Amino acid sequence: MDSIRIIGGKRLSGEIHISGAKNSALTLLPCALLTEQKLTLGNLPRLADVDSFGHLLNELGVSTKVSGARKGDGPKRRMTLEARDIASTTAPYDMVRKMRASILVLGPMLARMGEATVSLPGGCAIGDRPIDLHLKALEAMGATIEIAAGFVKASAPGGRIAGGDYSFPVVSVGATENAVMAAVLAKGTSQLFNAAREPEIVDLCNLLVAMGAKIDGIGSSHLTIHGVEALGGADYDVMPDRIEAGSYACAAGITGGSVELVGAKADDMLAITNALAAAGLMIEMTGRGIKVTADRPLKPLAISTAPYPGFPTDMQAQFMAMLCVAEGQSFLEETIFENRYMHVPELRRMGAEIEVHGRSAIVKGGAKLTGAKVMATDLRASMSLILAGLAAEGETEVMRVYHLDRGYERLEDKLGAVGATIERIGGG
Ligand code: UD1
Repeated sequence: MDSIRIIGGKRLSGEIHISGAKNSALTLLPCALLTEQKLTLGNLPRLADVDSFGHLLNELGVSTKVSGARKGDGPKRRMTLEARDIASTTAPYDMVRKMRASILVLGPMLARMGEATVSLPGGCAIGDRPIDLHLKALEAMGATIEIAAGFVKASAPGGRIAGGDYSFPVVSVGATENAVMAAVLAKGTSQLFNAAREPEIVDLCNLLVAMGAKIDGIGSSHLTIHGVEALGGADYDVMPDRIEAGSYACAAGITGGSVELVGAKADDMLAITNALAAAGLMIEMTGRGIKVTADRPLKPLAISTAPYPGFPTDMQAQFMAMLCVAEGQSFLEETIFENRYMHVPELRRMGAEIEVHGRSAIVKGGAKLTGAKVMATDLRASMSLILAGLAAEGETEVMRVYHLDRGYERLEDKLGAVGATIERIGGG
């Protein structure tokens, strides 16, 4: 297994090109199931999760053709998907186990074929992550749901989902995505209340509209979807990754550096840029992205994670790493997932002073971080260790790089290009 080795203490300076958003790609890809025509997605990030999703779609009978996959910033990666015939309506355990987002084939497959079977995802490192809301929303639209032998089977009486209204008791990104993808081909109209309004959901709705869907209220928590008979193909670019951009902004912050995040979309990142500014970083809009500069000591923060437009849970670990070196005590509250502080013991091994009380954490600040061998059990936690390594004295080795490969495209190249001493080593 590869690991990443960093010699810390370098001030980062330069520009980093932001890739297409992982979480957007993972909900745009299953839209290929909704049409017999070709769907071409541009600006697709080169990530393990995107490849896994492509393989899952191949197993269901979707053909995929990738172009522009060259290394470097070169031509953006594009994938053309064609689901002329669906070979199987079952997403097997092996795929779902590897990638929870596989559950996102449930809604579109049900809409297209009148039935879909997906292995239950099971537990997950950052909490239980149930799928009850996905299922309840589909039931409200007329689907019949059965759970047996570790699989969930959704079917539409009469072969086509009716459509219906559902009010989410908790904001869920994935459940909203599944519900929207099912509703676009329903017989009637569906309304979703308390829907998630993450920018990735706006991206999904915009793609669906380009394919011929009728959706009102895009960007709000009340979506009205008028089902149509069929959807067509489209050629669509994945939005820039706001979490990748935010992570590299924290890299500038923790190293006292200055990085231009080329291609980052400021409108989607207000909670992140506001928090960066509150920590004392200078934020400039450059016309081609966002420039983040840390030219003074970092200030502590009080942050609580929340659904969009609140502060994203996917940025909590990276901010925590950055706040370890701020001057003073920071307070973090994780309201979305339980068990999302798995980076804390590893950060402590690097010299951080952090106390965890249930879902709250106190970061003492002013830490002098020192390099260590560390490992994390999820994607964003791994990134927080990379950030700590960039600021730490001496050598840090972050193990289990496959977590990072799920969500950060060419991480070591991008950080190396702005002055970090970082390399991937095999067999760690
Ligand atoms: C997505 C993102 C993930 C991000 C999260 C929250 C993708 C591929 N992943 O995950 O990076 O951290 O949004 O912004 O886009 N819940 C239920 N029942 C359900 C579904 C969710 O109780 O059926 C709960 C979850 O346990 C959690 C909360 O709702 O406490 C939010 O989860 P959700 O928004 O669904 O996260 P994901 O879509 O899995």
